Amino acid sequence: MLAKFSRRGFAKLAGLAALGAAAGARGAENDAPAVDRHAPAPFPKEFLWGTATSSYQIEGAVNEDGRGKSIWDIFSHTPGKIEDGSTGDRANEHYHRYKEDVALIKALGVKAYRFSIAWPRVFPEGTGQPNPKGLDFYNRLVDELLANGITPYATLYHWDLPQALQDRVGGWQSSDTSKAFADYAAYVAARLTDRVKTVFTVNEVGRFVNFGYGWGIDAPGPKLPTAQLNQARHHVALGHGLAVQAIRARPRTSPPACRAIATPDNIRAAEIATRELNAGFLGVVLEGKYTDGLLAYAGADAPKFTPDELKIIGTPNDFVGLNIYAPQFYVTASERASGFHVLPFPTSFPHMNSEWLRIGPEVIYWAPRLAAKVWNIENIYISENGTSSEDKIAADGQVYDLDRIMFLRNYLTQMQRAISEGVPIRGYFLWSLMDNFEWIFGYGKRFGVYRVDFETQARVPKLSAAFYRDVVARNAIGV
Ligand code: BG6
Repeated sequence: MLAKFSRRGFAKLAGLAALGAAAGARGAENDAPAVDRHAPAPFPKEFLWGTATSSYQIEGAVNEDGRGKSIWDIFSHTPGKIEDGSTGDRANEHYHRYKEDVALIKALGVKAYRFSIAWPRVFPEGTGQPNPKGLDFYNRLVDELLANGITPYATLYHWDLPQALQDRVGGWQSSDTSKAFADYAAYVAARLTDRVKTVFTVNEVGRFVNFGYGWGIDAPGPKLPTAQLNQARHHVALGHGLAVQAIRARPRTSPPACRAIATPDNIRAAEIATRELNAGFLGVVLEGKYTDGLLAYAGADAPKFTPDELKIIGTPNDFVGLNIYAPQFYVTASERASGFHVLPFPTSFPHMNSEWLRIGPEVIYWAPRLAAKVWNIENIYISENGTSSEDKIAADGQVYDLDRIMFLRNYLTQMQRAISEGVPIRGYFLWSLMDNFEWIFGYGKRFGVYRVDFETQARVPKLSAAFYRDVVARNAIGV
């Protein structure tokens, strides 16, 4: 488990956190002012509350309606890759139970749902002949969401690359995959963006490139040398840029985002760190160039690119989505050329049920604040935030996930702090609607606010579902 902790810690660029975030002091109890000090902190009226899932983690039905294989089908069926030996073959059977699941979303009172589209359902071979039955599923899902007053937010790529592309060109190792991604994006946009107004391109590049192509932990699994890894990341950035252009080419759409992120202590050092440590994807997407720091550091391993590619990659975005879980780095100012110093984590640093998930609520304050400042971002969504928990069923049949509630209360409080200071966070998608196939952890880690019994497929709200419903209903964090 420790090994997992550090593997995860290195690559999940979902956030750097602030050192020394100020702790507020309270006055003496008996001098209480007339104001209600327990009044919950309100969110802006138009703030968007949502929840999120991804295709391979919940859909199941892997052999239905012409779906092609994805790299996660092959990877999860490879012995030794998934901790509990499970696969996403059945998962939550969401492909057939989507109406029931939309009702669960509705019961939370949220107005938005972020799901992902399985590329191999739409193009079983990655390119070429589309499979209309595959897209039909998302048509049905979108219609069901809209009929229930829930706004759909679609992600085009949450890691389930068509295996055919992996076999033919090495997946993201080739710019052919970037082009195929753009064609897939254009096809989907033409058919969904009359109803889906917001599209995310790629989910957590930091993880799927490093884990999937660098360290062999995630699908597809090769351990590429640094130069090839950097090239693969460049192809993802190119795919993102091409997809943004393809989606913008459609009328009535409001295009994509990307993801990643960062944060501080000495605020200037943290701004520099934010920019440099995210230069390989978020930075090049938002600036249209690689930083001098990245190119100097990578040296001969730097990605090969053309000015035209940089232009495509730098196509303007309407918003940025940030997945915020754990603080990844605490930095201080440094006299060194880099301008920042990354501090080592003590082994006693606390974590949630997932060992990689260090507890640092201030990351959801600092990461958006720094990103907004460094890249002048006007619209940020927290596209994922949440935690796993033991989630045992108590004698009375309930799940009292007090640790998840503690986690959410503290992170949401910090998010509210950022918003109240003017950081442009427009919406929040809780990860996750329900327990699901947690990649290499199989079904061993539960992230949902609904508990799923994977034998019976019964979904039961945990206490955190009631907590979140209350936050959404008040538009404020209750005490
Ligand atoms: C996010 C992913 O990085 O982390 C989700 O986008 C994932 O798909 C979540 O479920 C939890 O991570 P893990 O590694 O515990 O499965």
